[in-house]
Amino acid sequence: MKEKILKLFKERFGTDGILYASAGRINLIGEHTDYNGGFVFPGAIDRYIAAAINVNGTDRVRLYSADMDAYVEFGLKEEDAPKEQWARYVFGVCREVIKRGGQVKGFDAVFAGNVPLGAGLSSSAALESCFAYAMNDLFNDNKIEKFELAKIGQSTEHNYCGVNCGIMDQFASVFGKKDCLIRLDCRSLEYEYFPFKADGYRLVLLDSKVKHELVDSPYNKRRQSCERVAATLGVETLRDATMEMLDAARDRISEEDYKRARYVIGEKQRVLDVCDALNRGDMETVGARMYETHHGLSADYEVSCEELDFLNDIAKRMGVTGSRIMGGGFGGCTINLVKNELYDAFIAEAKKCFNEKYGHEPVVIDVVISDGAHRC
Ligand code: GLA
Repeated sequence: MKEKILKLFKERFGTDGILYASAGRINLIGEHTDYNGGFVFPGAIDRYIAAAINVNGTDRVRLYSADMDAYVEFGLKEEDAPKEQWARYVFGVCREVIKRGGQVKGFDAVFAGNVPLGAGLSSSAALESCFAYAMNDLFNDNKIEKFELAKIGQSTEHNYCGVNCGIMDQFASVFGKKDCLIRLDCRSLEYEYFPFKADGYRLVLLDSKVKHELVDSPYNKRRQSCERVAATLGVETLRDATMEMLDAARDRISEEDYKRARYVIGEKQRVLDVCDALNRGDMETVGARMYETHHGLSADYEVSCEELDFLNDIAKRMGVTGSRIMGGGFGGCTINLVKNELYDAFIAEAKKCFNEKYGHEPVVIDVVISDGAHRC
């Protein structure tokens, strides 16, 4: 892919591009906790967006998406925003760098990727982080701090793409490190790398191919529910709420909001439990918490769907150690922690049963925990 991008850059712009890449992510546990000030436990994966970029001496950006075979040009002022959604990710990053007092000048870019779209692997965060990293390297002597790069991506989602997301995806894409998951405390922004050596196990994603589109999805509504409950309980975020506080205020909270908050409060402890269990090498507890998260996301947070519940049920029935819906929800994939000896049988059974019921197989995505944003 990298050679192809460099070649396309040369053909289109007549000069050599500098290559940057950033990764998609998985999240072992800690879903919908980031915008509640809670914990997340993601890692970058070996699926990337890569871009060849170089300055062009003008005040315009010339951008080519190789995967879509689509080209746009735009300026760098607020009123220059492109109409194309895919280009707004790059435009937004440029604007957010400028708004923070950073430099961006005209550049040419060709990009492509192998992060599956709509699977919940944060292809958009990979794109944002790739360009944020590149803008820092090309125009700002790498003086913008890494956390700020992640926030530039997050603000791009908020201000240019209509998704009121948390920090997890961009954080994982920027901070990802080979063979490590990262526990991030989204309130203090303290983070810790955990080597992920699950000897005897594999992490595999099953993509249901159910369309996952956070823009215009009920994602923003989930966030509003959480904020309403936090306000009722008199806390800044649900990170500071307990089940006791929630129950005491039950008659002042709608049934729907109550369920949303119950899930979030439970998830906080589950992330901590999983980190402790990993330190002890106790994969059974890791897996048990993953199933609990799935149940909460399906029954209380209501971001699962029939197809993902079906995949989760197959995993449970086959004795897979852990399985749950991953990412924002409303489609996408499950993440599964599977013993090596069970792997082939599980995949075969999931493909067969899913195909019988829905007329197509789920896409199997084996993941390797990898490095985040970098210059190649
Ligand atoms: C999406 C958002 C993240 C996070 C997850 C759910 O991926 O971009 O900020 O909220 O959903 O955990």
